[in-house]
Amino acid sequence: MQKKININNKKLKTSILIKKNFISKFVKNIAEKNEKVFCIIDSKIRNNLNINNQKNIIIISFKCGEKIKTFDGYKNLAEKLILKDVNRKSAVIAIGGGSLGDLVGFVASTLLRGLDFFLIPTTLLSQVDSSIGGKNGINTRFGKNLLGTFFQPKEVLIDISVLNSLPRKEIKSGYAEIIKHALIKDYAFFNWLEKNANKLLNLNKSILEQAIYKSIMIKLYYVIKDEKEFLSNNNSRAMLNFGHTIGHAIESHYNYQKFNHGEAISIGMITEAKISNYLGLLSSKELEKIIIHFKKCKLKIYDKILKDRILIKILAKDKKNFQNNINFSLIKQIGSSIFYKKLDKHQVYKILKNI
Ligand SMILES: NC(=O)c1ccc[n+]([C@@H]2O[C@H](COP(=O)([O-])OP(=O)(O)OC[C@H]3O[C@@H](n4cnc5c(N)ncnc54)[C@H](O)[C@@H]3O)[C@@H](O)[C@H]2O)c1
Ligand SMILES: [Zn+2]
Repeated sequence: MQKKININNKKLKTSILIKKNFISKFVKNIAEKNEKVFCIIDSKIRNNLNINNQKNIIIISFKCGEKIKTFDGYKNLAEKLILKDVNRKSAVIAIGGGSLGDLVGFVASTLLRGLDFFLIPTTLLSQVDSSIGGKNGINTRFGKNLLGTFFQPKEVLIDISVLNSLPRKEIKSGYAEIIKHALIKDYAFFNWLEKNANKLLNLNKSILEQAIYKSIMIKLYYVIKDEKEFLSNNNSRAMLNFGHTIGHAIESHYNYQKFNHGEAISIGMITEAKISNYLGLLSSKELEKIIIHFKKCKLKIYDKILKDRILIKILAKDKKNFQNNINFSLIKQIGSSIFYKKLDKHQVYKILKNI
């Protein structure tokens, strides 16, 4: 399968190419059109790629993960590029997972007031989620992604051949975001995932490409409607936060050590589906259907911190909330989400105790 998705409207210009075994050719094409090309590569995959320091291609590789999304990470990369004479005609390509993409996107959007930026996501999570939509950023000690910009990459290349080296834990992490897209927007897709999850987790190429394509289209639906997350209705980009209010609080509580992002939002999605059920939005039958699928795929569904008051404190501090109220993106049915504003923090504590 090869597919190209072009978005070219007044507000948003970007394109996404889905093509196998295409990374080195993609980089070469960019190098032919730009004076200087900086390839920033996750060191774990550097040796799997056939890209060499040549003519106008400069390779920078380093160890990736959540810890690079810091002020230090930003400074190191920006200064490396300056030392290597980056200029306005340079292009920057990020080849790695979501952590690298978020950092490089932020550097590219600010250095010299913005450089041409390309993304080659190399984890399932980054292929179905973080490479789409132009959000980037770094963490501060006050919270995740507090510093960042909206900056669309010129082009994104999704090449599934790079996923062969990805550990199963990371594949499941990406799968969690795929399920999220189905849960908030597409019932038929959820049914399809129930049938095909096993093949997908074993990297069956055709199933994987179909799921990635479908996921990207759902994410784009919200990004196109509400790029900057201004809306507060059911078309808001905030719907993509389903599972993330609780998920981010869990990640933050454990200082990003105990769970990876997908694991934390798996627990978050099940908990927020239970909250949806508790509030009379989601039927018990559909809640059960979701839980069965998560269990079948061995995704995480619970952590003891959910019953602890400390989680409420973290939730109340979330940048998206005001005063004592906590906002959630919940689901009314599988495939249909709703923006649920202002649950009082005491109420949330009571619900979490009861579910
Ligand atoms: N910008 C957005 O819209 C958005 C959306 C969702 C998530 N995110 C961010 O994405 C980050 C998580 O991304 P992630 O899950 O890709 O994590 P990651 O970038 O930390 O990658 C996970 C691990 O996989 C390794 N890796 C990467 N590609 C590999 C490959 N092909 N083979 C083997 N190992 C490989 C990495 O070195 C790392 O150890 C978080 O920081 C999250 O906040 C951003
Ligand atoms: Zn996420």
